[in-house]
Amino acid sequence: MKKSLIAITCMGLMLSTGALMGQDKGKGKGKAAPAGDAAKGKELFEANCGVCHNADSEERKMGPGLKGVSKHAKLANDAPVNDANITKFVNEGGNGMPPFADLLTGAEKANILAYLKSL
Ligand code: HEC
Repeated sequence: MKKSLIAITCMGLMLSTGALMGQDKGKGKGKAAPAGDAAKGKELFEANCGVCHNADSEERKMGPGLKGVSKHAKLANDAPVNDANITKFVNEGGNGMPPFADLLTGAEKANILAYLKSL
């Protein structure tokens, strides 16, 4: 059960990445990809992440404040900040952060990512 959930999540991620690339190549118009929805991400963040993270400052709660996190060079695990590594961090958690791989769908994580990048 757990494995198949992860597989589904991975497939979802691959599909959405594939869709992004396909669109760019095909149309040549640079039409915006169906990326995450930051407004929905905000709600999800408040429900799932806000207990431990400030969104409006860098001040630490349980975890680091996430304002401007997408402009940092590196994450707490030393990985360079990019979409894939932020998503991986959220999936895996660690050091006091719970793993969200099975708790949120790929679409929900994309929405949260879009929100984080707007901070
Ligand atoms: C139970 C508390 C808790 C919850 C809930 C939580 N986190 Fe965290 N988070 C942490 C802690 C603690 C760290 C620091 C981990 C470390 O130092 O390696 C962290 C680190 C992070 C980082 C890396 C920040 C940086 O500057 O490197 C991101 C991004 C992040 N969390 C996103 C989220 C998101 C998105 C959610 C909700 C889906 C979430 N967290 C939910 C505790 C939490």
